[in-house]
Amino acid sequence: MLKPKSVEELAVRGKRVFVRTDYNVPLNAQQEITDDLRIQASLPTIQYLLDNGAAVILASHLGRPKGERIPEMSLAPVAERLSQLLGRPVEFVQDCIGETVEAKVSDLQPGQVLLLENLRFHAAETKNDAVFSAQLARLADVYVNDAFGTAHRAHASNVGITEHFAEKGAGFLLMKEVEFLVDAIENPRRPFTVVMGGAKISGKIDLIKSLAERADYILVGGGMAFTFLAAAPLRHDVGSSLVETDKLALASEIMAYCANREVNLVLPTDCVAAESIGSDVETRNLSIRSLTHGLMGLDIGPQTLKTFESVLKESKTVLWNGPMGVFEHEPFAAGTRRVAETLAALTENGATTIVGGGDSAAALAQFGLMDRVTHVSTGGGASLELLSGKTLPAFEALKGE
Ligand code: 3PG
Repeated sequence: MLKPKSVEELAVRGKRVFVRTDYNVPLNAQQEITDDLRIQASLPTIQYLLDNGAAVILASHLGRPKGERIPEMSLAPVAERLSQLLGRPVEFVQDCIGETVEAKVSDLQPGQVLLLENLRFHAAETKNDAVFSAQLARLADVYVNDAFGTAHRAHASNVGITEHFAEKGAGFLLMKEVEFLVDAIENPRRPFTVVMGGAKISGKIDLIKSLAERADYILVGGGMAFTFLAAAPLRHDVGSSLVETDKLALASEIMAYCANREVNLVLPTDCVAAESIGSDVETRNLSIRSLTHGLMGLDIGPQTLKTFESVLKESKTVLWNGPMGVFEHEPFAAGTRRVAETLAALTENGATTIVGGGDSAAALAQFGLMDRVTHVSTGGGASLELLSGKTLPAFEALKGE
């Protein structure tokens, strides 16, 4: 893989460095950050730049304001959190381009940090607009991209802007994410097992196909398992479980593809079933064959867990994407919790375990196992694209002259 320069290869002392981060973090109604994984993950690059005499200008999007200034999508709460984490002041400016911003930037000294307001308050950002890219570029001497979570987008702050810098490169987070994920699919230590879950197959089709080309085992749980179970040649009656009827043919095709390539696609044989989703509903452990109308499978059952564990225990590389059930509700959390615990134990025994973004990362956090796997990706869409064998435009843009 041809790599861009790493931040460590750039001349940053005494320079103003524009760092594109992904601070698209969840906020509650009180504008409090409910998960700061992405802020934490940006610290090594920022700290490195500060330690090496740079003035740091941080830019990010938050949400999808579509060119409007929406106060609930301000990055102000991020400045506060970042300042606590860095243990130094982080100045915040109400826009990301224009005279006020340029004045602030020209006063910025080595060792100081300035966070710009949400890039997407300007519609030009997502259009990869050339004028907006140039306005952003004017703020700094050196460009660093550390926003892995946004690297599958080709926007002004991560693609257009790169043309304006001779000195540019990837931050520690972006580099680490790409290396881990690409390495996992290109050179996995075998057996290589993929644990797939989540509600739906839609949105993960390219991912499943790409992994089917590379994995030794694919263990399927979560809602998506029922579409596979309902598809030919299995044609199980899955009661009232979630089935994407428009994806049945595709599920058959994937099963046939795996069978031809001798990839073991393992589906649940039992599940935790209930009539509705909730935290105090009555549940039953049922074999898939016993599911009837009115009952939904909402977690994998104990027999399935045993099968999954026996495969996982032999695996040297494990990639996990998507929960095994509706883990947010305790009656359906056991499958996801057990998979998370098994991954933690495997990691201790030397296996490489990678958790691909979004819901699975939230599950790890819920079970307090975030630090017990080899790598947790900070990117949902970006990790899906990369694991599907696609390139990331923002990473590619850093390679050019
Ligand atoms: C994400 O959260 O996946 C990234 O920040 C990208 O956000 P987007 O899907 O709104 O472009």
